[in-house]
Amino acid sequence: MITITNLNHSYGKIATAKNVSCNFETNKITVILGGSGSGKSTLLKQIVGLQKADSGSIEFNGQDVTRLSKRALYEMRKEMGMLFQGSALFNSFNIFDNIAFPLRQHRSLSEKVIKTLIKIKLEMVGLRGTELLMPSQLSGGMTKRVGLARAIIMDPKIVFYDEPTSGLDPISAGVINKLILDLNRKLGVTSVVVSHDIESALLIADKVIILFYGEIIATGTPEEIRESTDPKVIQFITGSPDGPIPFSVSDKKFIADLMEG
Ligand SMILES: Nc1ncnc2c1ncn2[C@@H]1O[C@H](COP(=O)(O)OP(=O)(O)OP(=O)(O)O)[C@@H](O)[C@H]1O
Ligand SMILES: [Mg+2]
Repeated sequence: MITITNLNHSYGKIATAKNVSCNFETNKITVILGGSGSGKSTLLKQIVGLQKADSGSIEFNGQDVTRLSKRALYEMRKEMGMLFQGSALFNSFNIFDNIAFPLRQHRSLSEKVIKTLIKIKLEMVGLRGTELLMPSQLSGGMTKRVGLARAIIMDPKIVFYDEPTSGLDPISAGVINKLILDLNRKLGVTSVVVSHDIESALLIADKVIILFYGEIIATGTPEEIRESTDPKVIQFITGSPDGPIPFSVSDKKFIADLMEG
């Protein structure tokens, strides 16, 4: 559904994408794993056209996202849902108005229809009857579920999840993983999940991509990733402080040397 070819991007000296090429298959769950600062959120923002890459292409539905006009991007995003890292709810809007926002932006529906659609989505994420609560009244797990309800309110063909389970207890994470799986398996939603939650990733993914400081170091099924003999992959999966991945992410010199090979 999406094909990324030779994508490059950097913030000054920090490369967030180094010749990234990969694809996200229709009806599948692809999980992009990577440590903090490896460029995962930046990559997602580029795919949905919220940010420009330096070079390379991102093909979605036969169009190169990097070349689309603002108007065309606006149209394209109607088919995409995005759960932002931190959920990005509007703090001054209640749950109802947060979820209604994309509908009011993109569709001209009656309030009655909007009400029904929101009721269905809140039901799906297990938050029936919470329409009038404010974001400040929600727990972390509830906030993510409201973000998810908003991401799917337009029935998108593809949903991007930025750290859907980070900061959640195992049961809340399990609820979110089940929602991602249900949306994919029951409704055929193509899913791209960005995360450093290895356990969740290996549980829900059809395909895993490991990003290491802007570079893809491994791609495979969860089984292939588990059985990898690449020291960087093994270190990442086992969370070991010893290995080729530097312990301190601020050790930029070490990282730069490493990436230069
Ligand atoms: N707007 C910005 N201006 C300058 N540098 C930025 C900006 N946004 C991100 N960065 C830097 O780019 C790198 C990649 O950031 P990004 O947010 O994509 O990482 P991430 O993989 O999503 O990390 P995390 O797991 O912590 O969310 C980091 O070194 C970050 O400091
Ligand atoms: Mg991020």
